[in-house]
Amino acid sequence: MAELMINGDRLWASLMEMAKIGATPKGGVCRLALTDLDRDGRDLFVKWCKEAGCTIKIDQMGNIFARRPGRNNNLAPVGTGSHLDSQPTGGRFDGVYGVLAGLEVIRSLNDHGIETERPVEASVWTNEEGSRFAPAMVASGVYAGVFTLDYGLSRADADGKTMGEELKRIGYAGTEPVGGRPVHAFFETHIEQGPILEAEGQTIGVVTDAQGQRWYELVLTGQDSHAGPTPMPVRKDALLGAAKVIQLVNQIGLAHAPLAVSTVGMLNVFPNSRNVIPGKVFLTVDFRCPDNDELTKMDAELKAGVAKIAAESRLEHDLKQIFQYDCVHFDESCVAMVREGAQRLGYVTRNIVSGAGHDACYMSQVTPTAMIFVPCIGGISHNEIEDAKPEWISAGGNVLFQAMLAKANELPVTGKSAESVAVA
Ligand code: GLV
Ligand code: MN
Ligand code: MN
Repeated sequence: MAELMINGDRLWASLMEMAKIGATPKGGVCRLALTDLDRDGRDLFVKWCKEAGCTIKIDQMGNIFARRPGRNNNLAPVGTGSHLDSQPTGGRFDGVYGVLAGLEVIRSLNDHGIETERPVEASVWTNEEGSRFAPAMVASGVYAGVFTLDYGLSRADADGKTMGEELKRIGYAGTEPVGGRPVHAFFETHIEQGPILEAEGQTIGVVTDAQGQRWYELVLTGQDSHAGPTPMPVRKDALLGAAKVIQLVNQIGLAHAPLAVSTVGMLNVFPNSRNVIPGKVFLTVDFRCPDNDELTKMDAELKAGVAKIAAESRLEHDLKQIFQYDCVHFDESCVAMVREGAQRLGYVTRNIVSGAGHDACYMSQVTPTAMIFVPCIGGISHNEIEDAKPEWISAGGNVLFQAMLAKANELPVTGKSAESVAVA
């Protein structure tokens, strides 16, 4: 019997339509979390989901759930989804692919006239990127009980605007409680954002794990003073200290390579005037590694190294870890379902560890979860030139369709299960 397939052309067309919202001159997308453009993207998703017959629920973190009913709506749903927010110079696929692949599964279930046993939900998670509001994946983190609702809503951007205020402003401060309800399984489809699948000619990455992350913020304080009369030996130059910290962060990554990576992605210099010695610098550090013990060693090296640099440079330092999650091991039965589905469809697969963070990482704490990766051109992501081939996009959608269909037709082991009581 021929396998059921999604409509790859429709999924591609929807991605291209969504990419018009926040389109940048270089062919990418800038749709920062909770901006007017994020609202426009959400509105389009909600419109498409309603047209596909879904009911929409929005929780207090602004997470959107588009639900297609099943035969037994007391059973926990099967979820899928990702994010619509982007980096400032983001691409057309990071996040939005996982959201619209979920919608495409729902549209395809409609096309094929399939009634699943369980409801199926396509979700949009608020502020996955952690670019406008740190940390990343904050709303799926609240959903999973890792962060409190107050913590999530009080995250502020560089201008002091909080997520709670901005959710209200764009009309997406929902009323549903965040999390606390059963989900039968969760799948997230995403571009790889690295070079492995394309280089090896693989179409589907079966994501077994995601590497752990630690994020830090550092403020170095010296003294602003005149760039002319202030002699070199007496300067307290915070930017010079920051330059040494950037070297340190790079050395720590190299010392723990090939597994670990380390990045300083943000640097704010005060007062940022060409003839004032900088008295203050704010910078961020991002450490990732698929081994928690290595991350702990990197953490110790950073703390000791920053203290040494500050003392030698006569600077004060305030180093805070603002985000940590340990390595994620995805659910083996869901992972196997992805692998078997992909192989049944004839796609070449390989196991892969996610280098990026994803909402699925937090969902894995509350429900059996797996991810499906497809290649992206040159492994480039978080860049306006991010690109993927339509056949890869379709392949990931087809694998998602298979996995969700199988999970959505799983019945509880007993007639009156704990889950049907819990949601009744
Ligand atoms: C989000 O894209 C992250 O991995 O930082
Ligand atoms: Mn993403
Ligand atoms: Mn991203």
